[in-house]
Amino acid sequence: MDKALRISFCCSGTEPEPWLQGLRVALPDADVSLWQPGAPLADVAVVWGPPQAFFDEQTRLRVIFNTGAGVDALLRLQLPAGVPLVRLQDAGMGAQMAEYVCHAVIGHYRGFGAMAAEVAQGLWRPRMPAPRAQHTVAVLGLGVLGQRVLRALQAFDFPVRGWSRSPKTLPGVATFAGPEGLHACVDNSAVLVNLLPLTPETRGLLNRETLSWLRPGAQVINVARGAHVVDDDLLALLDSGHIGHAALDVFHTEPLPADHPYWRHPRVTVTPHTSARTLRDETIAQIAANIGAWRRGEPLRGVVDLKLLY
Ligand code: GLV
Repeated sequence: MDKALRISFCCSGTEPEPWLQGLRVALPDADVSLWQPGAPLADVAVVWGPPQAFFDEQTRLRVIFNTGAGVDALLRLQLPAGVPLVRLQDAGMGAQMAEYVCHAVIGHYRGFGAMAAEVAQGLWRPRMPAPRAQHTVAVLGLGVLGQRVLRALQAFDFPVRGWSRSPKTLPGVATFAGPEGLHACVDNSAVLVNLLPLTPETRGLLNRETLSWLRPGAQVINVARGAHVVDDDLLALLDSGHIGHAALDVFHTEPLPADHPYWRHPRVTVTPHTSARTLRDETIAQIAANIGAWRRGEPLRGVVDLKLLY
């Protein structure tokens, strides 16, 4: 065992002290510290949104852990060559994603939002659900989170489809792959759920053409990255009613600018990038388990393929 394993923590937007303490408890023989310019060189980085200066200075890193699922922002930096980059795999995010997506799907399908507004006015208006067999949900992105969301949707008997870059087989899911499979997956679906990684191939994938393949009145749920969506196209389809509802958790600019039309659009529900938060204890446990395996010479789990960019 390497007693002097040095871990440098550099996560923006989070209170560092509980993380440092948690990492020290989980990895008692490691030297865990908060990165500051000029800090000693570390073996392991634990990062979220670090500045380029972090990698410019930390020239001896042997592994980099990202405390989130998406690595698109990190990959825009100049990263040290040949150092494995590891992203979170579920770590408590899967259940949160499943909650968020099922809440949105069911709320729209059963009309709970409209019903709450009616009840607030003292109106007693029970309604029948639409035929479930026609309420097909298409999930784009079949990684750990996409698969967890699909399992949750299946518990409610919605017909489900899934789309991924390379072919995948999932029980009870009609799966499609590659650019040629996208149309068949989205075609006439009642709901589109976006859980894709953001890459040059997926940027702007949700546009006028692809969203028009959904059935009229369909719902769009974006829990991946804002840049997957061409906002003007989605807004035009919302205005025309072709898209009946959009549940949007992620945006090109975050926080969503105060004057953005999404805030006030009657068919849009905005949430503040909160569909699946990084959970500290689960994340530290996953990083510590991965470091333990790696020190025993076992493979790291969750390593980003730098050719695929996820
Ligand atoms: C959040 O957006 C994440 O990538 O974990």
